[in-house]
Amino acid sequence: MRAYIFEEYGPPEVLRIKEIEKPIPKADEVLIKNFATSVCAADWRVRSLTVPKGFTPMFKAQFGYPKPKVQILGTELSGIVEEVGENVTKFKIGDRVFACSDMKFGCYAEYKTFNQDDLICILPDNLGFVEGGAMCFGAITALGYLRKTKIKEGQKILINGASGAVGTAAIQLAKYYGAHISAICSEKNANLVKSLGAHQVFDYESQKIEEIDDVFDIIMDNVGNFPFKNSQHFLKKNGYFLAVLTNLPQMLYSIYTNLTNSKKTITGSFAPKVEDLKFLADLAQNGHYRPVISQTYNFQEMIQAHHYLDSGHKIGNAVVKVFE
Ligand SMILES: NC(=O)c1ccc[n+]([C@@H]2O[C@H](COP(=O)([O-])OP(=O)(O)OC[C@H]3O[C@@H](n4cnc5c(N)ncnc54)[C@H](OP(=O)(O)O)[C@@H]3O)[C@@H](O)[C@H]2O)c1
Repeated sequence: MRAYIFEEYGPPEVLRIKEIEKPIPKADEVLIKNFATSVCAADWRVRSLTVPKGFTPMFKAQFGYPKPKVQILGTELSGIVEEVGENVTKFKIGDRVFACSDMKFGCYAEYKTFNQDDLICILPDNLGFVEGGAMCFGAITALGYLRKTKIKEGQKILINGASGAVGTAAIQLAKYYGAHISAICSEKNANLVKSLGAHQVFDYESQKIEEIDDVFDIIMDNVGNFPFKNSQHFLKKNGYFLAVLTNLPQMLYSIYTNLTNSKKTITGSFAPKVEDLKFLADLAQNGHYRPVISQTYNFQEMIQAHHYLDSGHKIGNAVVKVFE
C-alpha cells in the first residue's frame, strides 16, 4: 500500500510517498480502507517541529529527536472496514466509519488497523467520507475544553481564531449548548462564522481586540495572541479562559493565577474517548455539527495540502482523499 513517510523534521517536502506493507489485522483489530484524512495543526507541528515557547524539550522527548519516532502522520481518517480479526464483535466488513488515532498518528496511509476498542465510530449516513475524515481533530478539542467549563444556555463566549478547525467546531458546539457567541476572525471569514452560529464578529485586522467593550463567561484562545494576562478583564467573575494554544511561561502564570483568582484557565490536551466520537456523530446526524471543509486534495497532493496548512490561514479543515 502507499503511505506518506517522513524521516526528518522540516518543510512539507520531507513527506515522501512510499510503498509499504499493508497491515494485517490481529484478532481484536479491524482493517480500515482509508478514504479521507485531514491535515491538521498537530501534523504541522510534528512535521516541522514547531513548538510553542518552552515546550521543545518535552516535545522532542515525546516525538523523537533528531529523527522523528512517528513516521506516518495523520490523526484521523474515515473509510470502510475491509477486514476484521476473529475476535471483533463491534464492527463488521463494509461498515462506514470514522476513526481517530490522535497523537499516535498513522492515518496518511491507504490502510490502517485499529483495535476495535480504539476511537472508531460508525459514520452518520448524512456525512460523506471527506467530512468523516475531519470529524475529530477540531471538534474533539473544542468539546474537551467546552465540557470543562460546564457551558450553559445563555452564557457568553468569545472565540479567538474562530475560523480554524477548532474554532469552527467550537462555534457549532457552543451554539448547540445555547451560548451567545462572539467570534474573532478576519473579515473574509466573517460570513462563514456567522453562518455557523456566531452572533457577533470582531475583525482582528481592523479592530483591536483590547478595545472589545464586553465581558464573557468563557474566552477560548485558539491563536495564542490573547493570553489570560491580557484578557482577564474581559472575563466575568468565575469565568473560564480556555488556552487551547499556550506556551510554558503563560502556562506557569495560569497555574499561579488559578490558585489566587476566581477566573480559571484551562489548558493542555484531553484524551478523547469513543463516547466523544459517538456524541459528535449524533450531533452530525441531527444537524448540529458538520465539519467545515475548505479544501480537498487527492493523495498525490499531500505536500500541497501541507503548504496550505503551513500558511497559518487554513479555514476549517483541509482533507486529503486517499482512495476516491
Ligand atoms: N491544546 C490542544 O490540545 C490543541 C488541540 C488542537 C489544536 N491546538 C492548537 O490550537 C491552534 C489552533 O488549531 P486549529 O486546528 O484551529 O488551527 P487552524 O485550523 O490552522 O486555524 C488557523 C486559523 O487561525 C486564524 N488566525 C490566524 N491568525 C489569527 C489572528 N491573529 N486572529 C484570529 N484568527 C487568526 C486563521 O484565519 P485567518 O485566515 O482569517 O487569519 C485560520 O482560519 C493550533 O496552534 C494548534 O496547535 C491545541
